[in-house]
Amino acid sequence: MKKIVLLGYMGCGKSTIAKELSKKLEIPFIDLDEFIEKKVKMTIKTIFADKGEIYFRKLEHECFVELLNFPEAIIIGLGGGTPCYANNHELLKGDNVLSIYLKASIDTLVERLSLNKSNRPLIANKNDDEMKEFIATHLFERSFYYNQAQHSVAVDQRTIEETVEDILKILA
Ligand code: S3P
Repeated sequence: MKKIVLLGYMGCGKSTIAKELSKKLEIPFIDLDEFIEKKVKMTIKTIFADKGEIYFRKLEHECFVELLNFPEAIIIGLGGGTPCYANNHELLKGDNVLSIYLKASIDTLVERLSLNKSNRPLIANKNDDEMKEFIATHLFERSFYYNQAQHSVAVDQRTIEETVEDILKILA
């Protein structure tokens, strides 16, 4: 069964939009970060702090593959870095996958993330100026991977409902 995979930078709205989409389509939503946390009984923050990022990336890849092999249709919300490691970006193009990049500008991301960064190890210790510089570079590096998605939806100045409608049109 098809997997709808939402991807994009931290703060682009993957989980919020996936939850709404899940209600509309009546298909379960699984957040990859939460799946990982349940599996190893550790928070993402603790995994990064105690085991390091490489350990996290391996685990993230294994868990992504596990979700893609679920027999039923599900909506998967990836972590911001998932498409950029292992061969995850190739998996976005699979026959049983419908992948959608939620594309946000640097300003939108900084605005959203400045309110919600404590559980995100890559930006937790940065002030707004440092974060803007970091995101600008990071987004540039990651765009190649995000652009491997089969579809892309711009989320700037769009409400959650509007973005969900945009996605439903892609699915129609
Ligand atoms: C990460 C994004 C996070 C989480 C981890 C690493 C990244 O997910 O997987 O902190 O590399 O961009 P969200 O995009 O859900 O915040």
